[in-house]
Amino acid sequence: MLLFPKLAGLVLIVLINGETPDSTVGQTVGPDGPQPPPTVTSDPLDITVHETPDRVSISTVGQTVGPDGPQPPPTVTSDPLDTTVQAPCILTLQPPKVVVKYGDKASANCSTTTDHIGMGWEASQGPVDMKDDVQLITWSVDSLVEWGIKPFCFMNPNPDKQCKVHLNVTIYKTPESVSISTVNHTGPMIEGGQYELQCDIQNVAPAELLTVSWFKGDTLVNKETFANSIKTPVNRSATLQISPSRADDGAQYRCEAELDLGPEGPQPPPTVTSDPLNITVHYGPEIESGDESVEVYEGRDVTLPCTAEGNPEPEVKWSFNNQSKTTGGRQTTLTISGATPADGGEYTCTATNTFGSQTRRVFLVVKDDRPPLPLIISISLIILLIVIFIICIIICKKKKQSGKYDVQPNDKGLQMMLL
Ligand SMILES: *[C@@H]1O[C@H](CO)[C@@H](O)[C@H](O)[C@H]1NC(C)=O
Ligand SMILES: *[C@@H]1O[C@H](CO)[C@@H](O)[C@H](O)[C@H]1NC(C)=O
Ligand SMILES: *[C@@H]1O[C@H](CO)[C@@H](O)[C@H](O)[C@H]1NC(C)=O
Ligand SMILES: *[C@@H]1O[C@H](CO)[C@@H](O)[C@H](O)[C@H]1NC(C)=O
Ligand SMILES: *[C@@H]1O[C@H](CO)[C@@H](O)[C@H](O)[C@H]1NC(C)=O
Ligand SMILES: *[C@@H]1O[C@H](CO)[C@@H](O)[C@H](O)[C@H]1NC(C)=O
Repeated sequence: MLLFPKLAGLVLIVLINGETPDSTVGQTVGPDGPQPPPTVTSDPLDITVHETPDRVSISTVGQTVGPDGPQPPPTVTSDPLDTTVQAPCILTLQPPKVVVKYGDKASANCSTTTDHIGMGWEASQGPVDMKDDVQLITWSVDSLVEWGIKPFCFMNPNPDKQCKVHLNVTIYKTPESVSISTVNHTGPMIEGGQYELQCDIQNVAPAELLTVSWFKGDTLVNKETFANSIKTPVNRSATLQISPSRADDGAQYRCEAELDLGPEGPQPPPTVTSDPLNITVHYGPEIESGDESVEVYEGRDVTLPCTAEGNPEPEVKWSFNNQSKTTGGRQTTLTISGATPADGGEYTCTATNTFGSQTRRVFLVVKDDRPPLPLIISISLIILLIVIFIICIIICKKKKQSGKYDVQPNDKGLQMMLL
C-alpha cells in the first residue's frame, strides 16, 4: 500500500505473477443493509519481492461510489504500471585489484554506505565472518598460497537479499630459472646455417602474463608471449631461429622473462635474465686485397704481405714456382732480399682453413738497377768526341803559332809565292 499512495481509497487488486489474491475489502449493501456493512477479510497474502526486478501491474477495477452513484459503478482501468523494485547494493573494494607474490601478504577493504543486516568476506583463504555493525570489512591473509583464490565481499541489505562483489586477485611467481641453449647442436656454428636457440623458463605463474624477450648483445631481436589461463606455476619454452653470419662470431645471446603485472604490480615488473650464450661462427678464409703487381730494382729487398680472415684462423702461405716460400698464421709476409731477375714472376698467397681456401696472385717485376747500354755508349761517345775536339783545338793552335813564325818575318815571300 505504501508504494502506491496516490491510489488510497481505491480498491486495489494487485496482480502478481498473473495471480489475483483473494481479498474482499468491503461489500456494497447500501443503507438498507446491516451497519456497518458486513466485512470478510481474507488471510494475509505474503508478497515477496525478488532481487531481480519483478514487473508489477496495477489496475483500478472499480470505484466505490455507493448506491447513489451510477450503477454499475464507473470503472476506469489504468495502463499497467511498470515498477522496478531494486534494493540498493553498493559495495566498494579498495584496492579493486590485488597483485601479490605467491606466499606474500594480501589484503583488501570492502565498504558500503547502505544499511544492512550483515556483511563479510567469502574466500578459500582468510574468510571474514558476517558482521552487522560495520560499514567496512577487511580481508587479510598473511601468506597467500591459494592459486585459484576468488574472494568476494557480500552484504545482506535485508534477510532475503544478498549482494556481492568479486576481488580480482593475481598471484604471481617469478621464474625459478631462465636458461638458454642451442637445440640439437653443440660447438661452433657454420656461417649461413640454420640454428634454433631455446629459452627454458621454469616455474612461472601466471604464464599468460609472461613475455620472453631475446637479445643479441643489447639489441632486442624478438619477443614471445604465451596464451594460457593456467594460474599455477608452469614451465615454458621460447625459441629463436638464427642464421649467423661471420659478423656474429662472438655474439652473445640472452633471453629475458618478464611478468607484465600491470600498474598494480611491482615496478619495474619482475624480470629474470638467462646467462649469455656466446656463439662461435665458423667461415672460410678471405684474403685482404692488395697490389696485383709489384716492382723492385735488381739487388734491392722487397716484401709481399698477405693477411686473411677466417674462423678457425686460416693458415696463410706464399708460394712461387710451385715452391712454398713462407707460411704463417692469419698473416704472413714474404721478404725477398737482393732481388735477382730469377725472382721475377707470379707469386701466390693461399689462405686455408677447414672451410676452404682462397688465393691471391702478385706479379713481381725485377728491374735492372744499372743504366741501359745504349746510354753508356752514347755518353762514352760524347765524352770521346769532346776529348778529340779539345785535342784538336790544342793541336791547331800550336800549328798556327809555328806558321806565324814561318810567315811573319817574310811577307814578301808569301806574296812572291802568290805571284
Ligand atoms: C583498509 O582500511 C583500514 C582502516 O580504515 C586502513 O587502515 C587500511 O589501510 C585499508 N587498507 C587498504 C588496502 O585500503
Ligand atoms: C581481473 O583483471 C584482469 C586484468 O586487469 C582482467 O583481464 C580480468 O578480466 C579481471 N577479472 C575479473 C574477474 O574482473
Ligand atoms: C632434435 O633431435 C631429435 C633427435 O635427434 C629429433 O627428434 C628432434 O626433432 C630434433 N629437433 C630439432 C628442432 O631439430
Ligand atoms: C618444470 O621443470 C622442472 C625441471 O625439469 C620439473 O621438476 C617440474 O616438475 C616442471 N614443472 C612443471 C609444472 O611441469
Ligand atoms: C662470452 O663472452 C664474454 C665476452 O665476449 C666473455 O667474457 C665470457 O667469458 C664468454 N663466456 C663463455 C661461456 O665463453
Ligand atoms: C705446379 O704444379 C702443378 C701440379 O702440382 C702443375 O700442374 C703446374 O704446372 C705447376 N706449375 C709450375 C709453374 O710449375
